Amino acid sequence: MTVNEIREKFLKYFEGKGHQVMSSSSLIPKDDPSVLLTTAGMQQFKDWFSGKVKPEHNRAATIQKCVRTGDIDEVGDETHLTFFEMLGNFSFGDYFKEEAIKWGYEFIASELGVSDERIHFTIFKGDKEVPRDNDSERIIKKIGSFKIEECDRADNFWGPTGTEGPCGPTVEIYVDGVEVWNLVFNEYYQEANKVLLPLETKGVDTGAGLERIAATLNRVESVFETDEFKEIVAFINGKMQKKDKKAERIIADHARTATFLIADGVRPSNLDKGYILRRVIRRIIRYARLTGITEQNICSEIAKIVIDIYKSNYPELEREQKHIIDELNLEEAKFVKVIEAGLKKFEHYEDNKEISGKEAFDLFATYGFPYELTVEMAKEKGIKIDQAGFEAEFEKHQEVSRKGVDKKFAGGLENKEDPKIIEYHTLAHLLLAALREVLGEHVHQKGANITAERLRFDFSHPEKMTDIEKQKVEEWVNDKLGRDLEVNLDETDPKTAKEKGAEGEFSSKYGDKVKVYTIGGNLDSTKFISKEICGGPHVGNLSEIKGRFRIKKEESSSAGVRRIKGVLE
Ligand code: SER
Repeated sequence: MTVNEIREKFLKYFEGKGHQVMSSSSLIPKDDPSVLLTTAGMQQFKDWFSGKVKPEHNRAATIQKCVRTGDIDEVGDETHLTFFEMLGNFSFGDYFKEEAIKWGYEFIASELGVSDERIHFTIFKGDKEVPRDNDSERIIKKIGSFKIEECDRADNFWGPTGTEGPCGPTVEIYVDGVEVWNLVFNEYYQEANKVLLPLETKGVDTGAGLERIAATLNRVESVFETDEFKEIVAFINGKMQKKDKKAERIIADHARTATFLIADGVRPSNLDKGYILRRVIRRIIRYARLTGITEQNICSEIAKIVIDIYKSNYPELEREQKHIIDELNLEEAKFVKVIEAGLKKFEHYEDNKEISGKEAFDLFATYGFPYELTVEMAKEKGIKIDQAGFEAEFEKHQEVSRKGVDKKFAGGLENKEDPKIIEYHTLAHLLLAALREVLGEHVHQKGANITAERLRFDFSHPEKMTDIEKQKVEEWVNDKLGRDLEVNLDETDPKTAKEKGAEGEFSSKYGDKVKVYTIGGNLDSTKFISKEICGGPHVGNLSEIKGRFRIKKEESSSAGVRRIKGVLE
């Protein structure tokens, strides 16, 4: 049975059971800052389940595009994927366990033709807070004599997505020992403080990984051998100099993820969704290089195959084809430059017998050169690498950035994931640079307060700004906004930061390491747009900032200190 036949059968079956067939929502969740990307079919229905919004339908069925990167390191085995399609049927205060279990079973048995001896179930065994799911056990027993396993919270209780939301005990349906369907009975709302409240209206949220069902049904070894995936894998395999099944699978998976993310409007950057995208693209290139694929624009070549296969079900792929190809080519060119700089550096080490942990880490951290490539190249040249040394350096670095992260989120930003706030944060740096440019070097920052709607910025200046000065500052900032200018982060000690021209208070508040954000350059640049000591976070590139800057108000704050209220429009 082809993947598309499964799609069609699924929607037809649940339409026949009174479900409204709905489209997949975007991979960018709407109005839900608690998650970065859509990870489940229920995402678009969160407010219907929780009762915040009145459901438009009592029953719905979807095939939802999902991206999950939690298991990215497992990709390459038989079942893990970062992008997948999830089949789901949903009830909002309508049917509950009885129908959900019966229909789930019937679809698998009658529509997909799986015989009973291949099927088994799991139920929630109960704990201190949530009782054992006796109802589901009784319902399954009524259907037939199947093996029923009892599992705990970790396995048979689902949700919420993000920090809070609907959740509940689950029944899982297994075929040939593989979990193919998760039936969630939403009975609770978990608050951010982890307290479970009973939901007023109960609901059903089921999810079945399409690729997994297809692989199990067709009894192939992995999801990569299902009909649609097979084409992508074959294309990649044809390009490889050194055949490598795991790499081929990783490239195929990531190419789908990148293609679908770009189609939904995600762009590569150093932040959040953009960083997820950047990471999968870089991994494609890395594994391509490792397997001897050096041709240019390999990512977009694979994306074209992906678009062809999936466009009939996901027309946005064809509509966004140009963006997909352009973004992939651009990002690939950038990363190839990084790799090439790393290759040059690597040449310095070629006469060594061994590359030290510090050298390998330097290649990785300073040049962005992937460690596996260092290992691979060293192997070819017969050079040893001090792996333990590399790992020790890596640990040390992680420790430093963890501390940085703690600090920066303690420091006045209201919501670490609100992209608008992050844009305003970077805007504040541009504004300071503009003020120093227009009014003079006596201007220093005296305070700032940022929300997702506006920026309030205090700075030292003895008098009211004239209209012309305000206009000049706006123009200076707007000239930079939206341009392809990177915002780079370096860590150093306060003294070096000051010597290199970074703005900052240079009081005792700094520890012995500070973060310096440079716009249009890096710590070592003598030419730059802005260089400031700051905890961050910031956008990765000014092109990510949407809108134009306008000064709404300029007033006195205290003696010798002026205050600007500004917005991005
Ligand atoms: N929300 C559940 C899951 O993602 C069922 O759809 O597994």
